[in-house]
Amino acid sequence: MKICFVGTGYVGLISGTCFADLGNSVICVDNNKEKINCLRKGEVPFFEPGLSEKIIKNINSNRLTFSSDLSQSIIHSDFIFIAVGTPDKKDGSADLSSIDNVLETIISSLKFHKFTKQKLLITKSTVPVGTGKKIATLFKKNGISSKNIAVLSNPEFLREGSAIYDFFTPERIVIGGENADAIQRLKVQYETNLLHECPIITTNLETAELSKYTSNTFLATKISFINEVSNLCEKTGADIQCISKIMGLDKRIGKLFLQPGPGYGGSCFPKDVKALISVADENDVSMDIAKATQSINAKQKTIHLKHLYDYYNNDIKNKTIGILGISFKPNTDDIREAPSLEIIKDLLQKKCKIKVYDPEALSNLKKVFKEDATNIIYCQTLDDVSTDTDALILTTEWNMFRELDLDKIHDLMNVPLFIDLRLVYTTKTLTAHGFDCFCIGEPPIFNRNY
Ligand code: UDX
Repeated sequence: MKICFVGTGYVGLISGTCFADLGNSVICVDNNKEKINCLRKGEVPFFEPGLSEKIIKNINSNRLTFSSDLSQSIIHSDFIFIAVGTPDKKDGSADLSSIDNVLETIISSLKFHKFTKQKLLITKSTVPVGTGKKIATLFKKNGISSKNIAVLSNPEFLREGSAIYDFFTPERIVIGGENADAIQRLKVQYETNLLHECPIITTNLETAELSKYTSNTFLATKISFINEVSNLCEKTGADIQCISKIMGLDKRIGKLFLQPGPGYGGSCFPKDVKALISVADENDVSMDIAKATQSINAKQKTIHLKHLYDYYNNDIKNKTIGILGISFKPNTDDIREAPSLEIIKDLLQKKCKIKVYDPEALSNLKKVFKEDATNIIYCQTLDDVSTDTDALILTTEWNMFRELDLDKIHDLMNVPLFIDLRLVYTTKTLTAHGFDCFCIGEPPIFNRNY
């Protein structure tokens, strides 16, 4: 099958590469020529485990090509997947300008095109409910009939860091559309490509579009809920790990996404929760749970810094704080909406000196904090980030932080204060190694007085 992916961000590049890996002929298009030139050489613009190898393999097998010429690329394609970004606007609604630009080019190049076979225009980008219908109307207005192009919605549910695994072993595939034959063609494509048995749900455009927002908002709500519970555990002596386990063993609740932390981040949850609220507002429906999820998450990112400030009786100026982990979660270099950013901002405001360490995300962080260059030290090793610090804050649960040499770190630090926002350690372990500490969900153990 000839497939075109428009947009070479996480979704487009990963899905395009995986479709090529399954034997299809895939062209990935982006209007950023520099990016396309790099991709042709197998240079990947972001870190995703296994992606670089797959791209190189499929370029070499001539199944994967890259282009910045959208018009030409779509003419030769049977399936056109739109995977451009839909970031949030200031008012929280989704910014569809990239989609609009793509549609403009598609319409002008297909307006006078002789179709031998119906093309499928499939939105993979997360779009507000109603977008697919609007796209179909736009084609019609421009003289392109639904016989020539069928509009489908096929939302992606890939997690960064394990996106390739998720692509090949999805838990469900959702296809929304108005035309049964078109839906069937995409369904058959997935059935033939994916050996893994997985439910394929076919439905209308609106349901497919909305299901992506509701899935992500529900997961975000689970996280905000457990985060509030962990704050209660901290005060009451209840064990948050055990509560997550007890709740999770109930199949109706499910055990995943009950891990407390410094709040959710990334490119999807924050923007999708906002967009669901916004689309509901437009329809005079108040999404109160989603609103609470959002405000709890905003507070959660920095709420635990109060323990650090208390520890030093608010005399925190010029203290050196080490941050372990910058990315919004492990196995990615993505720092969009990462809790670490809010933590660093808060510490900088209090005039602290910051040391940071992350195995993948340091160069992205440098771009964000350009102006604070003198107050942030970018460390290359765990020893560097620990040396002479007045506290260490573990913000991302990279595997390498699970096996820290706690005795060595203790000796390198100026004051051995360890704040674990990801439940990698317990206060029992940390105090056994001589630390004063705070672990999310437990009361702080501060033996020293400053
Ligand atoms: C998410 C969805 O999972 C995916 O299906 C969708 O298509 C894109 O958005 P992603 O943004 O890659 O994927 O990250 P995910 O693994 O879902 O984690 C999101 C955030 O929630 C992270 O900041 C993570 O640290 C946090 N999280 C997750 C928790 O704090 N606790 C948990 O129990 C789980």
